[in-house]
Amino acid sequence: MSGLDDKFIVFIMGGPGCGKGTQCAILREEFNLAHLSSGDLLRAEVAKGTPEGLEIKSFMDEGKLVPQETVINLMKKAIMEVPNRGILLDGFPRSVSQLEEFERTVKPAKCALYFSCTEEEMLKRIMHRASHAAVKRSDDNPETAMKRFRTYTTEAQPAIQRLREMGKLIEVDAMRPIQDVTDDARKAFI
Ligand code: AP5
Ligand code: MG
Repeated sequence: MSGLDDKFIVFIMGGPGCGKGTQCAILREEFNLAHLSSGDLLRAEVAKGTPEGLEIKSFMDEGKLVPQETVINLMKKAIMEVPNRGILLDGFPRSVSQLEEFERTVKPAKCALYFSCTEEEMLKRIMHRASHAAVKRSDDNPETAMKRFRTYTTEAQPAIQRLREMGKLIEVDAMRPIQDVTDDARKAFI
């Protein structure tokens, strides 16, 4: 994709509720980065109430991956609109196919930050958010969370493994307090 020569992309990976969005919000401020979350971009499409939005919602409520073409097109459009040099892609890629298609048609990532966390802890964080957030997400319930975990294992884990083999993966133990996780994550930018 043209116009990206002086920009760099960092993939932000990890299971549902591991803390991707939380860490991106901190890193964005500290390093003047753009933060593009595939989940947030999809929720914005759902909020439009269009037939396409309703279809997207049906995938999200089942904890399944939204079709790749939809997600990559939303990502490409958002990438072209942000002025920042560094761009965090939160929750993307989520499969080997997304990884390959993005790196082929947009730009290879500089690196990927992977926040590792157990399912037990991720479920706790999701349920805590569900009971405290002002706006509750329709996929933040135990049943959909378990489906999201399954999709993560079958689809996203192979992409994480591929990035490890490519020498691009920076693994951070996300089982610790937010500040400690950030202390490790910021090493990707300095
Ligand atoms: P998405 O919105 O990306 O959801 P997710 O990956 O399931 O992750 P979350 O946003 O729930 O969690 P997070 O890791 O951002 O954690 P957070 O910082 O909020 O995707 C939703 C759906 O969209 C997918 O299921 C799929 O259907 C679709 N989709 C998205 N991307 C797609 C793609 N690329 N392709 C196809 N489909 C796609 O933290 C969670 C909670 O924990 C918060 O309350 C937070 O305060 C707390 N917390 C954070 N860090 C800590 C810590 N260190 N200690 C204690 N609490 C913490
Ligand atoms: Mg998130």
